[in-house]
Amino acid sequence: MNAPENTVKPGKIMLVGLGPGSQDHLTARARAAIAEADTVIGYVTYIRLVADLVEGKEVIKKAMTEELDRAIEALDRARQGKKVALISSGDAGVYGMAGPTFEVLFQAGWTPPDGENGEIEVEIIPGASALNTCAALVGAPLTHDFCAISLSDLLTPWPTIARRLDAVAYADFVVALYNPKSGRRTQQIVEAQRIFLRHRDPQTPVAIVKSGYRPKQRIELTTLEKMNEADIGMLSTVLIGNSNTFIQHGLMVTPRGYANKYAVEEGERNTRDGEQAGRSLSTGLGGWVATIQASGRSAAELAAEYRLPEDYIAAVLQSEYLPDTAEDEEGGN
Ligand SMILES: C[S@@+](CC[C@H](N)C(=O)[O-])C[C@H]1O[C@@H](n2cnc3c(N)ncnc32)[C@H](O)[C@@H]1O
Repeated sequence: MNAPENTVKPGKIMLVGLGPGSQDHLTARARAAIAEADTVIGYVTYIRLVADLVEGKEVIKKAMTEELDRAIEALDRARQGKKVALISSGDAGVYGMAGPTFEVLFQAGWTPPDGENGEIEVEIIPGASALNTCAALVGAPLTHDFCAISLSDLLTPWPTIARRLDAVAYADFVVALYNPKSGRRTQQIVEAQRIFLRHRDPQTPVAIVKSGYRPKQRIELTTLEKMNEADIGMLSTVLIGNSNTFIQHGLMVTPRGYANKYAVEEGERNTRDGEQAGRSLSTGLGGWVATIQASGRSAAELAAEYRLPEDYIAAVLQSEYLPDTAEDEEGGN
């Protein structure tokens, strides 16, 4: 069924990630989306970051806590046929406006446009998140497994946050802490440190980036035991290294794992004994399974050694695994 001719042409919501805040790191698509928009909606600070791009447009500034209002306003304008840019710092899908916007849209009965339902279009325009941009300012801290945790308990219960902190500290992830501290929320970062110190060396490297890529940028490299002596605020991201992360010449680096397979001696790369280029490590899945199956040790003993659940080890001991045969390097980068 075609929409009646006199109905308003459906508008569009563009969820625009601005990146860290400097114009140099605003993507071409983000810039074009703001240029296309009739209305720009965002937190006052973010509107200020793109002030020169919003001249002549309807600009709706909202306070930090009014995320749902911003989404409702965007839907309202888009249903009037307008193109609306809803702007977030970093990436709109990382602790940003994308989630609340879809929640509001679904509650209002919105379904994706199908050419016939007359619905508004939604486009998500990615931006570099604080975790990428802050990492880039301090070296290469995220070159191995990492995760992000927000310390904001405005919408998430503290036990949920604490459980996640405990799990990732135990599992040795590099962690990016978003929303680490504000004028009112000062104890959450102290608790996060307490939880991390239960599992990690006090000397674990920590980087604190405040206002990255903005005029008041400030970078501090410190350690887990001293991190709370640093200047941390609402505009800081805290990067906590894993057990292999190190700081050298003022750069924080998490090794990719090459040292497990190769030794660089006198400028030459040599494969370590028992390892093969292009194959999983001898302690990769196949090699490890063969080792534990041949060990004759109980699931309980192995579980304690490898810090893995006993029922998982028991299942592995009873499984058959095909040997690793094909050349298999990880995806290019
Ligand atoms: C509500 S979250 C928004 C995150 C954003 N959508 C992103 O992808 O980066 C706000 C938090 O992001 C981090 N953040 C945002 N911009 C930053 C910057 N320029 N420098 C350091 N941290 C930043 C801080 O941890 C801040 O408390």
